[in-house]
Amino acid sequence: MIKAKDSIYKITPYIGGESKSKEGQRIIKLSSNEGAFGPSPMAVKAMQEVAKDIHRYPDGSCHDLRAALAYKNNIPAENIVCGAGSDEIISLLCQAYAGDGDEVLYPEHGFLMYPIRANSVGATPVTAAVKENFKVDVRALTNAVTDKTKIIFIANPSTPTGSYLTRDEVVAFHKGLPSDVLLVLDAAYAEYVEDPEYTIGHDLVAQHDNIVVTRTFSKAYGMGGVRLGWAHGSDEVIDILNRVRGPFNVSIEAQAAGVAALKDDDFLKKSLEHNKKCREDTKQALEEIGLKVYQSVTNFLLVNFGSPENAENTRLALKDQGILIRQMGAYNLPACLRITIGTTEEMGLVVKAIKGYINNHG
Ligand SMILES: Cc1ncc(COP(=O)(O)O)c(C=O)c1O
Repeated sequence: MIKAKDSIYKITPYIGGESKSKEGQRIIKLSSNEGAFGPSPMAVKAMQEVAKDIHRYPDGSCHDLRAALAYKNNIPAENIVCGAGSDEIISLLCQAYAGDGDEVLYPEHGFLMYPIRANSVGATPVTAAVKENFKVDVRALTNAVTDKTKIIFIANPSTPTGSYLTRDEVVAFHKGLPSDVLLVLDAAYAEYVEDPEYTIGHDLVAQHDNIVVTRTFSKAYGMGGVRLGWAHGSDEVIDILNRVRGPFNVSIEAQAAGVAALKDDDFLKKSLEHNKKCREDTKQALEEIGLKVYQSVTNFLLVNFGSPENAENTRLALKDQGILIRQMGAYNLPACLRITIGTTEEMGLVVKAIKGYINNHG
């Protein structure tokens, strides 16, 4: 019988947010942190325009997209690599920098792709405890670094907890790290953060060879379906990523959509404004029902239902009504559910459904 590497059998396959419900029923999908308004119409148009060219291989260097990203973020295009979602970048980083016997460190309840990718290259995923309310505990992370640690992933802001570290906290943490440990700041939700004390980390990449920032078009840009992400790193890291990635890892459509989406400032502004207001209104409404809702600067809320049974029963009751929200057992937070911010109407329906369930069963 053919057998994969031992470490592969340690992987629990990633289960995405549910997207199906009963036949013919309206579905309100709030389980995968996608954008409330779909993609920018400019991105859709750009994809349609390049559809006639899909017999051609894409530009393997993503030249135009990297130029647009460089301009938008005020960083050199040479220090950018694009990928099929930031998931691919996470995978490439593990492939390049970690292997048998190495450790990949991240905060407890962290994004599930970190342990999946660590195990897939034979490395050991290691977690460090977080603080109350799930804020990343940089001291615990520092204490968890060993001479086997090769990569540290910090989602900043984090999913599913919604908390974040400030620039000063990241800088202080990085100062205590050995120079041969790669610190990956996974900034999938960066666009949503308004705090001036926060940094995405592009300024830090410019100063330190061992910091990488990963970004995505899947969240604020509402383009999860085209699979488009990117990394900003030092010359050395970018050279390595270019060696390990596939030659045509980003499709023609994704490149075109990305360039167009970056031009649609109005769409992004409107999405972010909506997200903030809707998130805070929803948080308040759920708190009024008596639920614990964790502080979030992202496009989702983590809500504590008091027990795993309450969380699961509430989730199933909502699913019955076509409202899909995410269970958190895989993140070791079984008493919680994660609710993505959708449209104002969708959030009104979610709150109403939760209230209805609690009134009948609470
Ligand atoms: C923290 C974090 N990083 C990375 C990703 C992956 O995003 P994508 O591969 O769609 O770019 C996600 C998606 O849920 C995420 O939550």
